Amino acid sequence: MNAQIDHNLEEIRRFRPAPEFAAQAVASPELYDAAASDRLGFWADQARELLTWSKPFTRTLDWTNPPFATWFDDGELNVAYNCLDRHVEEGNGDRVALHFEGEPGDSRAITYAELTAEVKRAANALIALGVEPGDRVAIYLPLIPEAVVAMLACARIGAVHSVVFGGFSSQSLSSRIDDAEAHVVITADGGYRKGRVFPLKPTVDEAVAAAETEVRAVIVVERTGAEVEWTDRDVRWSEAMADASSEHTALPFNAEHPLFILYTSGTTGKPKGILHTSGGYLTQTAFTHKNVFDLHPERDVYWCTADVGWITGHSYVVYGPLANGATQVIYEGTPDTPHAGRWWEIIEKYGVTIFYTAPTAIRSFMKLGRQIPHGFNLRSLRLLGSVGEPINPEAWIWYRHVIGGGSIPVVDTWWQTETGAIMISALPGVTDLKPGSAQVAVPGISIDILSDEGEPVEGVGGGLLVVTEPWPSMLRGIWGDPDRFRETYWEKFGDKYFAGDGARRDEDGDIWLLGRVDDVMNVSGHRLSTAEIESSLVAHPFTAEAAVVGASDETTGQAVVAFVILKERQTAGLDIATASEELRAHVAKQIGAIARPRQVFIVGELPKTRSGKIMRRLLRDLAEGRQVGDTTTLADTSVMTAITEQVR
Ligand code: PRX
Repeated sequence: MNAQIDHNLEEIRRFRPAPEFAAQAVASPELYDAAASDRLGFWADQARELLTWSKPFTRTLDWTNPPFATWFDDGELNVAYNCLDRHVEEGNGDRVALHFEGEPGDSRAITYAELTAEVKRAANALIALGVEPGDRVAIYLPLIPEAVVAMLACARIGAVHSVVFGGFSSQSLSSRIDDAEAHVVITADGGYRKGRVFPLKPTVDEAVAAAETEVRAVIVVERTGAEVEWTDRDVRWSEAMADASSEHTALPFNAEHPLFILYTSGTTGKPKGILHTSGGYLTQTAFTHKNVFDLHPERDVYWCTADVGWITGHSYVVYGPLANGATQVIYEGTPDTPHAGRWWEIIEKYGVTIFYTAPTAIRSFMKLGRQIPHGFNLRSLRLLGSVGEPINPEAWIWYRHVIGGGSIPVVDTWWQTETGAIMISALPGVTDLKPGSAQVAVPGISIDILSDEGEPVEGVGGGLLVVTEPWPSMLRGIWGDPDRFRETYWEKFGDKYFAGDGARRDEDGDIWLLGRVDDVMNVSGHRLSTAEIESSLVAHPFTAEAAVVGASDETTGQAVVAFVILKERQTAGLDIATASEELRAHVAKQIGAIARPRQVFIVGELPKTRSGKIMRRLLRDLAEGRQVGDTTTLADTSVMTAITEQVR
């Protein structure tokens, strides 16, 4: 296999679109021309073409108060109506919206007409619980149809959802409930994962008890039938839905009405509530979903493997695909349950044509070998997508050959929670593809690479990735913290959005993403903050001091590695292995299993500069097994030698 891949890498650096694909492609080179000649006119056309407006807009962008942009701000629409009712009205009510596959093997096909009816009921149920436009609703669910219904029901009545990934701890949930002041929580008795039921309701009970915000109602979907404790504020989803009418008229909201808050890690300990609004967000998610994935809604079966707890699930499971009337698969469980071919079995079962996943998943399948996917019929696939972290050329080639059969397009899509939608990607059928590079800005998006001093890097070269013009699905702010919004993204380069990623431009003008340049780690495509994990570690009674780095990892991209100084008085007599295990478990409990450090090294000191700043760069060298770099700025240059010995 490797010889084949090396061969491909040397032989074919570029893949031209196949003529048959190009002939039927949704995207066309004219999109670039149209966007280049009149960028705002281009987005206004997309907004009018892709969405149904209750009140047409006359203004496209207002950028008179940077960094606060508004798009289409005198227009009105209902986001849920755009994702549901209008498809039914257009005669597509019988089209399957969701093919749900549960981990235990249960499945459900839900048409657009059925999904619309369910969302109407859920909207009425929320109204009956007193939820009003602008109110925040926390959603903590497995990837089941009710998660999609709950999000759209909020959108329908103008409530703002805050989806919290089901793998986060009660403490993480509680702080998100408080930050957004959510008075209603939607959860389930549990979900299925790796062949077992994982409980959610007890975590919600703990979170609600710890929260300062008064949670009036907890709606509980009965997914697993697990016994849960009931309190006065708990409401069964099934009962609330049965009591609610299936009649509900979607009212229009302003294009800038808040749609959702989604928390993501930043460089400090406290997660940021990224705020997205309605018209611009839906325009860009629908546009990119259609053109980057070459969507033919009448015949494609689309599958994005992301959970709705992440931005990819918001934009490319819920809003983009449903606005476009797509038929899609959603799968509750893990790729290896009950066997390592589960994903490929699902592709075969539903005849998936468009598949969107993360490099970390592709790399773990590569490790298992091609015989597993080869056991299934994957010939329905005609387009593959990648997101979440840089995809290395070997993984790209393996994906194209082993999963895609060797001739179908692979698009690598760069974007962020903050950008709301895809920003950099090839357009299939138009762009020549280059393994490992995200390539070019989407039409209507202005990307540049700047030096640290803010000078544009001309031609070939590396620097910091920026977005130079506001875009429709840009974050509108950080919930409740306008100063942090300015400082994080706009202070560095004035009116240009600083993404936090390093990037390089090659001789063809293609962009290669080089990873984060700040203290944000990317573990299996999930964003984690070094500071957040450090503060979790120091909250443990064992810990005197802690430093966390993201070390490169063959499968997960990066892995969390912690260096901890123990408090003598708490840990006298304790062996190092026990202490380190205890701290790993502590982080998993406090933040969530995704944050559990791969390693916790117990050390005597941490490398610090004379001003007391921890030099994480040196710790990263150590964690990655490299020669430790320049130590001359350390207050005590012998410290690294001591730490190296302790670690080895
Ligand atoms: O570092 C980039 C990386 O993921 C970060 C955004 O993470 P998050 O907000 O969780 O959103 C992930 C899904 C959109 C970025 O700053 N990233 C995302 N996609 C790519 C990527 N890095 C390289 N190539 C990509 N295609």
